Amino acid sequence: MSVLERLRAIGLHKSSHARPMRKWRKIARRLRSEVLDTARRVGMRAQGSSLIPVALRPALVRLLGRKIGKHVILHHNCHLGPNLTIGHGSLINTQCLIETNAPVLIGSRVHLGMRVLIATSIHDMSDPACRSGLHSALPVVIGDGAWIGGGATIMPGVTIGAGAVIGAASVVVRDVPPDTVWAGNPARFIRSLAEPASGVSDRPAA
Ligand SMILES: CC(C)(COP(=O)(O)OP(=O)(O)OC[C@H]1O[C@@H](n2cnc3c(N)ncnc32)[C@H](O)[C@@H]1OP(=O)(O)O)[C@@H](O)C(=O)NCCC(=O)NCCS
Repeated sequence: MSVLERLRAIGLHKSSHARPMRKWRKIARRLRSEVLDTARRVGMRAQGSSLIPVALRPALVRLLGRKIGKHVILHHNCHLGPNLTIGHGSLINTQCLIETNAPVLIGSRVHLGMRVLIATSIHDMSDPACRSGLHSALPVVIGDGAWIGGGATIMPGVTIGAGAVIGAASVVVRDVPPDTVWAGNPARFIRSLAEPASGVSDRPAA
């Protein structure tokens, strides 16, 4: 028997009390979620501060719900969205912006140069009165060992293969195969880093 049922049984709780109690419970729940939300936002601002030692940042970011592996280095002034997983030994350089309206999975031993942008959000563009219409999102995956050059942008839905390299300031609009170098806007294939089979060109067919 619940406390409420017990109180009712001995006549100490009347159903006319229930409505105000429900209202107060609703207010308390709302207050709790506002306080938690503010604490999370303050926490994320704090973790981004250059005053926080690099060694402490992963623990703080883990506390705020991101899944961060061991020996990860997170530099200051990064925005790290909530739906983020980073594997062991990866490095996120300063001023990276990782937006996670869909999940972002960064593998192990990945290096993100400074000011990398990972975007997951898309808007429906069919309404001429407002081209940033209904919002949706696609996940981004960065494979183990990849290196993303400074200022690169990774677009929604893109998977960067393991061991791939993306040139500085590139805009990656489609999936990148493992162990290849891509650069430019839009990023194009530069060369393969895999051992080439003898006599076979590493350039993809045009
Ligand atoms: C992508 C990168 C690794 C390629 O290095 P590389 O293999 O030595 O390539 P090269 O310099 O020989 O260039 C090969 C071609 O790619 C082009 N290219 C290289 N980097 C480019 C870039 N960032 N954007 C556009 N094109 C690029 C070159 O112009 C060249 O084109 P071409 O064959 O038509 O002349 C390097 O250019 C790069 O961007 N490194 C990132 C550096 C960085 O961001 N450091 C700070 C963060 S850790």
